[in-house]
Amino acid sequence: MKNIFITGCCGYIGSHTSVELLNEGYEVIGLDNFSNSKPRVLDAIYEITGKKIKFYEGDMLDKNLLKKIFTENKIDAVIDFAAFKSVGDSVNMPIEYYINNVSSVLTLLNVMKEQDVKKIIFSSSATVYGESKIIPITEKCSIGGTTNPYGTSKLFVEKILQDLYKADNTWGICIFRYFNPVGAHQSGLIGEEPNGVPANLMPFISKVATKELKELKVFGNDYNTKDGTGVRDYIHIVDLAKAHVKGIEKLKKDSSGMFIYNLGTGKGYSVLEMINAFEKVNNVKINYKIVERRPGDVAICYADASLAKKELGWSALLGLENMCKDAYNFTQKNINN
Ligand code: NAD
Ligand code: UFG
Repeated sequence: MKNIFITGCCGYIGSHTSVELLNEGYEVIGLDNFSNSKPRVLDAIYEITGKKIKFYEGDMLDKNLLKKIFTENKIDAVIDFAAFKSVGDSVNMPIEYYINNVSSVLTLLNVMKEQDVKKIIFSSSATVYGESKIIPITEKCSIGGTTNPYGTSKLFVEKILQDLYKADNTWGICIFRYFNPVGAHQSGLIGEEPNGVPANLMPFISKVATKELKELKVFGNDYNTKDGTGVRDYIHIVDLAKAHVKGIEKLKKDSSGMFIYNLGTGKGYSVLEMINAFEKVNNVKINYKIVERRPGDVAICYADASLAKKELGWSALLGLENMCKDAYNFTQKNINN
């Protein structure tokens, strides 16, 4: 199993995963429509690895293009990252979100079935757990209760994949539920580049540090947590990317099966702890003020990541220091891009 097709290969997680796969000797065939990324990411991947992705520009909803890609390449497995990911936008644009995040996966699975390629890793999210009563969250915790179309689109695709496996158990399907990916590649050449003002904590803190933004708003300090602010499981993007290599190895070894893993560190940090760590590691001051809670936020969300350790032999190795250092390094290097 050598040739891996990556959808959304130029995005945040897709670019880092491409790097890890290329470094491990895999061939990467990539697709992206640049709806949330830039072509220069391809050059950055080449600069880091010395290897090129066989790249196709286009949309995952384009069945003919997918057929062409599968015909021109001997694809062994697919990693599907292509999706829209803004929780806020999804509330205002549910149709666009369900088309891009659900219909596109159906198009992909249909072509995979036609071409008899039956191994896929799908990017899901901890958001499928809603407000879990059990912390740390295990894969056995109930899913559902999502509060926005983005989260529901992930839930729908998980269900579609379960049904597919029930209908044909020769598929090898791996669902990864990511917690909070942060940081960037150590080179500072690839990282998270949200359009406009970042909605997520870490890129926002980084832009306050570089003075591109004036002040961080901390959404609530009256949660039932250690210091009243929200607690999350932040995971370094390079650790997360490496898990996909392990996922591919698992699909190679077990050939078929339905596998679901949480990808997190198993540690929860509060917003104030993140600010403090960032200030200390990077020797900068982060201006912030406490404001109202953000609607839809849960108090605490962190993973029990022991199943991935047991079955994939993967666990996160990089701590808060690397997350803060690499996030800031990337933001500093990319201020005017
Ligand atoms: P991203 O927006 O950085 O990357 C997605 C990439 O897919 C972009 O390059 C975009 O241009 C491309 N794309 C989108 N729709 C496409 C389409 N129809 N056809 C072709 N290309 C398309 O997002 P990311 O952070 O790398 O996330 C990757 C996946 O992981 C997504 O499915 C996302 O929902 C999921 N996820 C992300 C997070 C997170 O916090 N980053 C958390 C949980 C799950
Ligand atoms: N926060 C602030 N100020 C900000 C941004 C965030 O205080 O400007 C707080 C939030 O209230 C929360 C924590 O920082 O307590 C983390 O918030 P993020 O927006 O960075 O991340 P979320 O946990 O809300 O959501 C992320 C992704 C979702 C994904 C979810 C679960 O954005 O797509 O993790 O994996 F579904």
